[in-house]
Amino acid sequence: MRVFITGGAGFIGSHLVDACIARGDAVTILDNMSTGSRANIAHLQGKVTVHEGDIRDKDLVEKLVSESDLVLHMAAALGVKNIMEHTIESIDRNFTGSEIVLNASTQFNKRIIIASTSEIYGKNPNQPLNEESDRVVGAPQKIRWTYADAKALEEAVAHTLHKTHGLKVTIVRFFNTVGPRQTGQYGMVVPRFVEAALKNEDIVIYDDGSQSRVFCHVEDAVRAVLNLTDTDSTIGDYFNVGGTGETTIKELAEKIIERTKSSSQIKFIPYTDAYPEGFEDMQRRVPDITKIMTRIGWEPTHTLESIIDSLA
Ligand SMILES: NC(=O)c1ccc[n+]([C@@H]2O[C@H](COP(=O)([O-])OP(=O)(O)OC[C@H]3O[C@@H](n4cnc5c(N)ncnc54)[C@H](O)[C@@H]3O)[C@@H](O)[C@H]2O)c1
Repeated sequence: MRVFITGGAGFIGSHLVDACIARGDAVTILDNMSTGSRANIAHLQGKVTVHEGDIRDKDLVEKLVSESDLVLHMAAALGVKNIMEHTIESIDRNFTGSEIVLNASTQFNKRIIIASTSEIYGKNPNQPLNEESDRVVGAPQKIRWTYADAKALEEAVAHTLHKTHGLKVTIVRFFNTVGPRQTGQYGMVVPRFVEAALKNEDIVIYDDGSQSRVFCHVEDAVRAVLNLTDTDSTIGDYFNVGGTGETTIKELAEKIIERTKSSSQIKFIPYTDAYPEGFEDMQRRVPDITKIMTRIGWEPTHTLESIIDSLA
């Protein structure tokens, strides 16, 4: 199968590339190397075709989509800090860029998976979050939500193209996904903590650390994506993909210190010291993954401990 992966030099994208190559697919990547890197795919030199370019390059996207059997659309601007520092550029990449990929897939009648996010549910306090949960986001000046807004609009375009033009799309809403090759540079909590622990530096928690999350290993997430493409019954549908085992951020830091045998100390700072104006957080984010489990039999295999060990 010929697979076209946007954002294939990124964290999740490069693991998808590995999995596709391992099963014998011919893989083409389009990545602008903004948060991704050639190092993530260096081990695949000669085995993949890499285009360094932008998903907003309509002609190039149309060509690459037309030459593929399956499109895995992972390219996006992400990371809370990144979004808050480059807001307009991020909205444009995530909305306009995705619209171009979706339109090309419609035009050439290709199967496509798009990467959406648990962020779209915002700060909905009714947890766990299932696929029908409401979006509860802050006011527009709370810039953090622009990522969720752009992704929600991307989903709405995908959904509409499916209804009106038969686009063969499946939407995957990743919850906090972690694993090797993820960088802590753009505010991702697990790699940031592990990096600090391995250097025996302070682990800096924003606020009091009582916020909770559930982490999913990238290997499990990649298996979910590929399993969803194995059947046409998932076309036109949307699925949460997340792990199990809720943990507070303070517990996470303690566990990372313990498993890496680090001498790091935990330090707490207020959100106002960590983020520019326009930030707000959600206290809990817990996925309900019943739908994907019952529909295709997927379930996560990693624990928080095995996730930390895979990074340390
Ligand atoms: N990692 C997570 O926890 C998580 C959670 C929810 C959703 N997602 C979604 O999963 C997808 C992959 O995320 P990731 O964690 O691998 O992040 P990542 O930053 O590692 O990957 C994104 C890739 O897209 C590339 N890219 C960005 N803008 C581009 C553009 N305009 N043209 C071409 N390439 C571009 C980047 O260089 C990078 O390689 C994204 O769509 C993201 O929104 C990730």
